[in-house]
Amino acid sequence: VGPKVVAHTGDIAPKTMIGAKVDGTGVLIANIESTFYAITSKCTHMGCNLSEGFLHGNTVTCPCHGSQFNVTNGQVVHGPAKNPERSLSIRVEDGKIAIDL
Ligand code: FES
Repeated sequence: VGPKVVAHTGDIAPKTMIGAKVDGTGVLIANIESTFYAITSKCTHMGCNLSEGFLHGNTVTCPCHGSQFNVTNGQVVHGPAKNPERSLSIRVEDGKIAIDL
């Protein structure tokens, strides 16, 4: 299908994240030191929306039971979640952020 533009760089302040949908899949886009990262945002524990959680450094904490994921690679930092999120390839061009599912 190819990458889809889901946001603009100006929408995501440094050290913050937003949630978006790409073809019905929830994604989270984070601005870490002016580099943008995207992972799937449906928590692999019980499905809460990680983009409604908390971002500290490159770690997002799920609002429901506190699972933590590294937004730069989707890996679990802390349970109860056991499975990683999917790390999505992201392209930034002319201030537009495009994601490939
Ligand atoms: S749903 Fe995210 S930690 Fe339980």
